[in-house]
Amino acid sequence: METLTQTAPVHATVKPHNPEHILKIGMGFWASKTVLAAVDFKLFTLLAKKPLSAEAVRSSLGLHPRAYLDFLDALVSLGFLQREGLGADAIYSNASDADFFLDKSKPSYLGGILEMANHRLYRFWADLDEGLKTGFPQNELKNAAAGSGNQFDAIYSNPEALQGFLQAMSGIQMGAFMAFAKQFDFSRYVSFCDAGGGNGSLCLQVALNQANMRCTSFDLPAVEPVAQALISRFNLSSRVKAASGDFFKDPLPKSDVIAMGNILHDWNDEEKLVLIKKAFEALPKGGAFVCIENIIDNDRSVNAFGLLMSLNMLIETKTGADFTFNDFDRLTHQAGFSRTEWMNLAGPTSAAIAYK
Ligand SMILES: C[S@@+](CC[C@H](N)C(=O)[O-])C[C@H]1O[C@@H](n2cnc3c(N)ncnc32)[C@H](O)[C@@H]1O
Repeated sequence: METLTQTAPVHATVKPHNPEHILKIGMGFWASKTVLAAVDFKLFTLLAKKPLSAEAVRSSLGLHPRAYLDFLDALVSLGFLQREGLGADAIYSNASDADFFLDKSKPSYLGGILEMANHRLYRFWADLDEGLKTGFPQNELKNAAAGSGNQFDAIYSNPEALQGFLQAMSGIQMGAFMAFAKQFDFSRYVSFCDAGGGNGSLCLQVALNQANMRCTSFDLPAVEPVAQALISRFNLSSRVKAASGDFFKDPLPKSDVIAMGNILHDWNDEEKLVLIKKAFEALPKGGAFVCIENIIDNDRSVNAFGLLMSLNMLIETKTGADFTFNDFDRLTHQAGFSRTEWMNLAGPTSAAIAYK
């Protein structure tokens, strides 16, 4: 009793407990799966054409009468749809960001990553617990024979999966690619190579924003036709090329600036260093190596997306992990680079840059 009377009244200093955050995050898969289903149904593409009544949406998407209003109104409450009226006659339309980013007929569509999340990652993440206990990937590699290739072999053996994967990758990175192409000082440089460049999106953004730059998107042979097709669609074949090779076996094309977007996090530190040294060898003195990823803050406590992306690398790869700017600084100095800097791009994504 004595000690109680000597301490300050507890209610004066302690914030009342609130379960809201715990429930929001803990039950976050409800909201996630609702949005992923809407993307898969192409609901936002449908409503981008014109607003529709609930009943018209229901019949267009082939939904059962039982829960379609809960589905649509959940999307209103989550900020993805807008609604006038109530019930079957209510008129639904896309909220502004959903209309811009989730309408498949717009070039700004980033739903590829959400389509991939719905078809692959959502189910693979159900086995996160097992991955944490065993250290093994939980994707297509899980049931493959031991030692039978990496995550890319598994996806690239299916042309449809390859196309979907490349679209998903560029979708998640597009905001950062656009920001980098505008923000980075290209004035001292004329050539740019994106190693592991996927469908060529970063090269296309650099070429669109920097008239002096010639760009090469370098990736595995299976990827070249996909990049080639996108480059032709942009009419930029005179300044953007697609080249094939294996960045572990072949030298990278010699260039003033070499980028790697979401590449280093696929591999462990030893493999990261091999790739960073490849970039070092292909750059001139003063050249820049740019890594565009969800770089984790040095204290490893703020960039939740970067830390969760690293768990996604546990699910998706045999050895990969995301990394902090300090890790990047250490590895690039080990490879011979003389100076590094950090550039914020979009949301959780930034560029870590090392100069030779
Ligand atoms: C995670 S994706 C990143 C794609 C793109 N850079 C981005 O930022 O969205 C990894 C890319 O690395 C490519 N890749 C994987 N192994 C490779 C290798 N050994 N040589 C060249 N490219 C490779 C894949 O084909 C894929 O396009």
